[in-house]
Amino acid sequence: MRNAIAIILLLGVVFTGFNACRNVDRNPRKTENFNNGWRFYLGDIPEAGSVAFDDNGWRELELPHDWAIEGDFSEDHPSGSGGGALPGGIGWYRKSFFLDQSYEGKKVFIDFDGVYMNSDVWINGIHLGHRPFGYISFRYDLTPHLKFDTENVISVRVDNSEQPNSRWYSGCGIYRNVWLTSVDPVYVDLWGVYVTTPEITEDNAVVNVKTTVKNEMPQEVNVKTETSIVDGSGKQVASASVSGTLAAGSSKEIEQDLSVREPVLWTLENPCLYEVVTRIFVDDKQTDEYVTPLGIRYFTFDAQKGFFLNGESTKIKGVCLHHDLGCLGAAVNTRAIERQLEILREMGVNGIRTAHNPPAPELLRLCDQMGFIVMNETFDMWRKQKTTYDYSRYFNEWHERDLTDHILRDRNHPSVFMWSIGNEVLEQWTHAEADTLDIQQANLLLNLKRDETALAGVDGEEMSVNALLTKKLADIVKGLDPTRPVTTGNNETNPANHLFRSGALDLIGFNYHGYDYKNVPENFPGKPFIAAETTSGLMTRGYYRMPSDSMYIWPVRWDIPFTDPSYACSSYDNCHVPWGCTHEQAWNDVKNSDFISGMYIWTGFDYLGEPTPFWFPARSSYFGIVDLAGFPKDVYYMYQSEWTDKEVLHVFPHWNWQLGEIVDVWAYYNKADEVELFLNGVSQGIKRKEGDKHHVFWRLAYETGTIKVISRKNGKEVLSKEIKTAGEPSQIRLTPDRRVIRGDGQDLSFITVEVLDKEGTICPNAENLIRFNLSGNGKVVGVDNGNPTSMERFKASERKAFYGKCMVVVKSEKREGVIHLAAESDGLIKDAIEIKVTK
Ligand code: GAL
Repeated sequence: MRNAIAIILLLGVVFTGFNACRNVDRNPRKTENFNNGWRFYLGDIPEAGSVAFDDNGWRELELPHDWAIEGDFSEDHPSGSGGGALPGGIGWYRKSFFLDQSYEGKKVFIDFDGVYMNSDVWINGIHLGHRPFGYISFRYDLTPHLKFDTENVISVRVDNSEQPNSRWYSGCGIYRNVWLTSVDPVYVDLWGVYVTTPEITEDNAVVNVKTTVKNEMPQEVNVKTETSIVDGSGKQVASASVSGTLAAGSSKEIEQDLSVREPVLWTLENPCLYEVVTRIFVDDKQTDEYVTPLGIRYFTFDAQKGFFLNGESTKIKGVCLHHDLGCLGAAVNTRAIERQLEILREMGVNGIRTAHNPPAPELLRLCDQMGFIVMNETFDMWRKQKTTYDYSRYFNEWHERDLTDHILRDRNHPSVFMWSIGNEVLEQWTHAEADTLDIQQANLLLNLKRDETALAGVDGEEMSVNALLTKKLADIVKGLDPTRPVTTGNNETNPANHLFRSGALDLIGFNYHGYDYKNVPENFPGKPFIAAETTSGLMTRGYYRMPSDSMYIWPVRWDIPFTDPSYACSSYDNCHVPWGCTHEQAWNDVKNSDFISGMYIWTGFDYLGEPTPFWFPARSSYFGIVDLAGFPKDVYYMYQSEWTDKEVLHVFPHWNWQLGEIVDVWAYYNKADEVELFLNGVSQGIKRKEGDKHHVFWRLAYETGTIKVISRKNGKEVLSKEIKTAGEPSQIRLTPDRRVIRGDGQDLSFITVEVLDKEGTICPNAENLIRFNLSGNGKVVGVDNGNPTSMERFKASERKAFYGKCMVVVKSEKREGVIHLAAESDGLIKDAIEIKVTK
């Protein structure tokens, strides 16, 4: 990889006197957001890569952009309902820009955080490169092709026409941020700083910093690398400096050890962040300043006792997340991700698995700041295909590069605790036809020399190609970051699984198979363990199938078409896939076993695509604990009662049924020893949770009126909840999650829309069509209601309520002011709110 000449300096706390506060103005490095002023065309125009091409008729837009989310649902889209039933195709983006003379002599790069997929990029008609993987971040060097004080043109072709290529909704286009980076020609290379903390005590943390400095000057230079550590208040707490020469056109890795006295640790409750500020000087002139996040924390995964963070036993209570943001599609928005994390944090979640691909950088930054334990995953497939046009087609050629780039990009995030190199890759299985590769092909893939044979394994045992491939991938990761364990999500739990047999996995990860956890200590002696994926419960918010104590295990088998006229899954935690289980079961499987480091539930939020157990017109998932619009389903409160210190009493379902109908009323509660239910003032009995159950329930004959549940501890009331029979829909209520947002053209307010009766009780079956009217400096950027079968567009100014609710998302413009939002519907009293937009 990088030819490293390491200069090691053990400096302890040395204050060299330079000012560590960041000085953006003085910094020769500029990282400019490059999202504005693009033009877009949906379709393929091969000439659009040339400078002369006239793009005047093209649509103007701002990135990040996902063209698929703007489309209509259709069974005929090649993505299928598994891919969200939204359009794919080929799209072009072009941007003209001017750089003044100040850029001359600089290195200028364009950095793409992610383009789905198969992108080609041109600058001024010159092809810069091609990247097939839609989730990887990449950079091109524009320097040799730029013109100053005149127009430059970037063109990007995105090809997501060959579908299905994903088992979920991918989105289409330049769906993540784009940056223009310029810096003097002696600079810190891309992802060129690697920070670790090899020693941490209460008094002192040793911070090891490896910096790759690149000299693109035509001559040798004297380089000084100054590294300082700055705490959250901006105070410099450590620094080190090293000088040396750097030959023309070469790069060098500089290694420095710094000490932080009395370090404040990064914990889940107080994720304290420092910054490592790297400054490069050539003959005392500063040529670069580069900032890397630092969280000082230590951890272990223990085979007997599970996960420890900073010496404290910590159960990972995680969820898997796909990357789409509901009605915003795949287009990255920091506030939308932050909101997801806030909702999950309220539920007690402390971990995120980036299923099943490299995430947006913003997600990791937020996890660093908010304190989450991230399983960072690279691949959903290796060589063996899961969908017709997926990444397996590119794996042989691209896996080394993509995996390397992923680890280099993300290895400084304190929130990242483990690398997953694959989810349920088909290479696990031993019963499948062993391998179709001949020895020569295998040697090529595995980078072995011709005279070694891929099948000659370690320890005299014959290793399969797939075991060797596992080892190769794990070795790539460990070569770049030996501080975190490498794992995989396995649905083949037999130790004969090729991935396990490689011996290269540090952490054994099972997907599902809770009944098999007990055999792990014997089958994988000495190996720590994580429930990498669990549950796959199925729920439609607001829909209840009774009796609640009978189970709906849907579909019968994953590949057999399944239908139910309801196209809905019950919210009583009594519906799940055959390979999964109920939420209560999955949590119990993990809760009381010390050796299990934790779990990542499938999934935190609903996502577009994979509408198991149904097919079209279902087009988004039923797996989420929170629906696609961001409304928690009932089981959210089961977790809240188990995973947080909050007092919880959650009672469901609603109270609008047919007279005499038998209805099961459930309650999730904590911090109480009993709960009592009253129907129209008459007690229906006291209940207590029994055994390992996390709920109680009453079976009642419905009568109109009110149910009230009281939770008590030692006879004293803790909480009470009332649910009333709602009358006819009469009025609309708007409730924004934030009434003040920033005028940066990015910030969002998510406004909950409820249909109420005239007393103000939510109408649990309301489906009224709500129309939105916005004025002022913002716009409606999405509408949703969490219904997995709705064929309504996400980009619209109206939405039907679904079980009484829908959601409208409003984005600020780049100026101060006020957004006025009104919501109306035939026959209902309307509502209006104001959202303040600040600087
Ligand atoms: C798992 C898989 C996930 C998702 C889930 C649905 O096997 O890893 O990506 O498909 O099943 O239950």
